[in-house]
Amino acid sequence: MKYSIKIGRPDKIKTPCIVIGLFEGGSLSTTATTLDKASNGYIRKLVKRGDIKGSKNELVLLRDIEGISATRLLIIGLGKKTQFKAPEFVSATKTVIQNLRSMDIKSALVCLLEPAKIKKDLAWKSQKLVETFEDGLYQFQNLKEKTKSKKPQLQAIDIFINDEKDLSVTSKGMQSGQALSLGIKKAKDLGNLPGNLCNPEYLADQAKELARKYRKVTTNVMDEKEIESRGMGAFMSVTKGSDAPGKLITISYKGSKPKEAPHVIIGKGITFDSGGISLKPGAGMHEMIWDMCGAAAAFGTILAAAEQKLSINLIVILAAAENMPSGSASRPGDIVKSMSGQTIEILNTDAEGRLVLCDSLTYAEEFEPETVIDVATLTGACIIALGSHATAMYSNDEGLARSITKAGEDCLDRVWQMPLWGEYQSQINSGFADVANVGGREAGSITAACFLSRFAEKYKWAHLDIAGTAFNGSGLKKGSTGRPVSLLFEYLSSLEK
Ligand code: BES
Ligand code: MN
Ligand code: ZN
Repeated sequence: MKYSIKIGRPDKIKTPCIVIGLFEGGSLSTTATTLDKASNGYIRKLVKRGDIKGSKNELVLLRDIEGISATRLLIIGLGKKTQFKAPEFVSATKTVIQNLRSMDIKSALVCLLEPAKIKKDLAWKSQKLVETFEDGLYQFQNLKEKTKSKKPQLQAIDIFINDEKDLSVTSKGMQSGQALSLGIKKAKDLGNLPGNLCNPEYLADQAKELARKYRKVTTNVMDEKEIESRGMGAFMSVTKGSDAPGKLITISYKGSKPKEAPHVIIGKGITFDSGGISLKPGAGMHEMIWDMCGAAAAFGTILAAAEQKLSINLIVILAAAENMPSGSASRPGDIVKSMSGQTIEILNTDAEGRLVLCDSLTYAEEFEPETVIDVATLTGACIIALGSHATAMYSNDEGLARSITKAGEDCLDRVWQMPLWGEYQSQINSGFADVANVGGREAGSITAACFLSRFAEKYKWAHLDIAGTAFNGSGLKKGSTGRPVSLLFEYLSSLEK
């Protein structure tokens, strides 16, 4: 989508559709007042008569209003003014884009920044507007050969502001919204591609392509031979059951001084998780094409960071492998040695995410990182605990936990901090090895985090369990959500010096 900013008299601007918001109770925004005056009191009349109520997400489309240059006027209800906060701004914006995309128009003029009297500045609002629009316009690349769905008509959005002096903040927000949206779109695309098309090699190729595109991005792909020779026995125990060779992919973005310690993001990139010999039940197994959403989010985040030219150093590690049952797959009961030296008793081959991640966490030490965040669709238990609204967050550092929580609140891609108390650690003690890869039925998301924590003692670390937030497995909204790219982008932006 092409975005631009428009200033001027809203009633005089020629556009196929002008969009304004209206609060319940009828107090008109500056834009609405201008349009009302130009149309000889038409809007106020409709409000007074009760034809437009301004109730939450109400939509009214008016056409050919005398005195107004726009062909159509779309009014979105914003609900009660006192209850209109950041989430309501997003939900109204969502409703608008869903509607615009279904209309047969090429462009629209959107006047939604002004009436949003929320505690967010214009930069936030215009960034969020672009992000929400792009999210609503997303369509997974068409793999249907028979019925290619037609592209939406809409090609350009003009964002309206009242005041010339707001131009620079609005345009900054718009630009970061576009950078972020590129990352989110990439995360969705990678997530949605099925396991036969998006395998570890595909992810490695994508990383190489990213490095070709951005000057400050470089990449390094480790093959199984090197992974093995570095002593990553835990990673190998997962990938060895698959015919698709595993890859440990490192992408580096240097936006700051070379000697400044990097921030590291590690993504779980299981391109398909069958469960391995501890095979998953057939129903719903296809959902495990999304088991690389952590890697997809990490990839999308570094893309957005490079696009936005953030002044930070960032390293992304994609732990890419496929979890399959075969003659060469790990057996339940196997004991393997991780790169950290700790031995692991694999009691369940379906708890594979932590196995590829633990060696990646140890490998991350080489970069002497400032912080390390891993992102993973790690446990079904996390979905039971938090559902699909909050990402579970664990950390060994309260400062880092606070920054991530705040970033989540700021951009509305929220996390909920979970405990990493010592009491839970005993659930993964093993009689035969240093640690077991599962900890029983209770507190499954927590014991998975406990497992990872044993490999993340050398730096400030946080773990994001995105099993509930990264994708919708079924239904109308089926597909990747792009979460938590927004959160990570917000967090990294907050680190800029
Ligand atoms: N990838 C799954 C977790 C998952 C399940 C993510 C559903 C998204 C939706 C992970 O590898 C897994 O299988 N975890 C097991 C762990 C168990 C064996 C301790 C689980 O959650 O059942
Ligand atoms: Mn699994
Ligand atoms: Zn998995």
